[in-house]
Amino acid sequence: MMKISIIGSGYVGLVTGVCLSDFGWQVTCVDQNEEIIHKLNQGIAPIYEPGLDDLLLKNLYNKRISFTTDIKQSVMDADIIFIAVGTPQNNDGSANLTNVFEVAHQIGHFMNSKKIIVDKSTVPVGTGQLVKKIIREELEARELNLDYDMVSNPEFLRQGSAIYDFTHADRVVIGAESQEAIDAMKEVYRVLFINETPFLIVNIETAEMVKYASNAFLATKISFINELTELCEKTGANIQQVATGMGMDGRIGSKFLHAGPGYGGSCFPKDTKALLHIGNQQQCNLGIIKATIEANEKQKHRMVEIIAQAMGSLNGKRIGVLGLAFKNNTDDMREAPSLDILNELALQGTQFRVYDPKAMQNAKKLFHAGQIPIIKYCDDEYDASLDMDAIILMTEWNQFRSLNLDHIKKNMRGNYFFDFRNIYSKEIMVQKGFQYYCVGRS
Ligand code: UGA
Repeated sequence: MMKISIIGSGYVGLVTGVCLSDFGWQVTCVDQNEEIIHKLNQGIAPIYEPGLDDLLLKNLYNKRISFTTDIKQSVMDADIIFIAVGTPQNNDGSANLTNVFEVAHQIGHFMNSKKIIVDKSTVPVGTGQLVKKIIREELEARELNLDYDMVSNPEFLRQGSAIYDFTHADRVVIGAESQEAIDAMKEVYRVLFINETPFLIVNIETAEMVKYASNAFLATKISFINELTELCEKTGANIQQVATGMGMDGRIGSKFLHAGPGYGGSCFPKDTKALLHIGNQQQCNLGIIKATIEANEKQKHRMVEIIAQAMGSLNGKRIGVLGLAFKNNTDDMREAPSLDILNELALQGTQFRVYDPKAMQNAKKLFHAGQIPIIKYCDDEYDASLDMDAIILMTEWNQFRSLNLDHIKKNMRGNYFFDFRNIYSKEIMVQKGFQYYCVGRS
C-alpha cells in the first residue's frame, strides 16, 4: 500500500488529501498550524467546501487519513510527498516561493529512502527544477546519495465545487522525467484512470505552464465578456444573449462567459499577475494577459460608476449588500470584488448592511481592518434590506435567485436594485417597483 504525505493542509492540500484517502490510500496531511491540525483530527475543516466535512469524517473514521505537524515523520514514512503550500503574491506581482523552497529543504533534510516529490502548488515555470536542486543539495550536505523523482501535478479545482472537480477532473496533468514516476502517479489516480479521465504526460516545465495558461485563459474569457458589457449597455445589446450566441460555437464554448463585477478569488488575480511577471523576466510581452488584468480592475470600478450615475451623490446613502464572497458556495473573501467596490463606495460616504450565507466571519476580519462603514452584519437578505436606499446583489448564491422581492421592496426606504450577476429580469423588477440596473443589459 502506497503511503502519501501532503505538506500544506490549506485549500488544495486538504481537498487533495481527503479525496486521495477516499480513493483508498493511506494519507497524512501536514501543516505547521497546530490549531488547524488539532481541529482536522477532530473532523473539523477550517474552510467551507460542499461535501468536504462528510468525506473528512468518513476517512478519519476509516483511519485512512491523519493530520500532523510532524513533517520529519511524514517525510520519512511516505512513498509519495505532495507539496501543496501557498504561493502568495509578492508586491511586484511575482509568486512568493518561500514556502515551497522551505518544504523542499525539509524534504531533503529528512528523506531517508527513495521518494517521489510531487508539486501541486501553483508555481512559475522552472520551480520544479529548483525544488529538485534544493533537495539534491540537502542530501549532499548529509552525504547521502538517494534517488528521487520530481513531478509537477497542477490542480484545477474550483472553490465551491472542489470535491466534485477532483473526482470528475477534465484531465490529470503529470509533468515527470521517469517512467517509474509516471506509473506511480497513474497508480495514485487509478480511480480516475480507470474512469477514463484523460492523462496528459509532459515534462515538468510544460505541466507548470499548463496551470498558469489555463487560469490566464479563463480569466481572459471573463475579462473579454466583461469588457463588452459597457458597449452592450450603450448600444442596446444583451450580454447574456451575446454570450449564449458565442457559446453555441463549439470552438468557443459557453463556460466562463458570465458577465459580472469582475473575477476575484485566490487564483485568477494572483496567477495572471504572476504570469505577467514571468513574461517580463523572460522579456516576453504578454499583452493579452496585461489587458485581462486591466479590464478586470476597470470592471470593478465601473460597478461603482453604475451606482453613482443612477443614485447621484452617494454621501449618506445606505446600501444593502447581498453576497460578499468572491463567488457562491465558498466562504473565501480573497480578492473578492465586493472589497474594492465597497471600499470605493465608502470613500464617497456610503454605509452598508451586509449579508453572506458563509463568508461573514472572513468579511468581518477584512472590513474591521479597513475603512468600510458597516451598519450591521445581518442575519439574512431581508435583514440586509431594512431601511436601505439600494440593494447590490454581489454574489450569485442560490438563495438570492428566489428572493421575496415584495418583502425586500417593503423593507427598503429607496428602490434601487443593482444586480451585478444578472439574475433577475428587468421587466419583473420594474413591475415590482424597483429602479433596476444590471451588467451589460441595457
Ligand atoms: C479557478 C479555476 O477555475 C480552477 O480551475 C483553478 O484550479 C483554481 O482557480 C486555482 O487555480 O486554484 P476558483 O478561483 O476557485 O477556480 O473559482 P472560479 O469558479 O474559476 O471563479 C473565479 C472568479 O471568476 C470568480 O470571481 C467568479 O465569480 C468569476 N467568474 C467565473 C465570472 O465572473 N464569470 C464566469 O463566467 C466565471
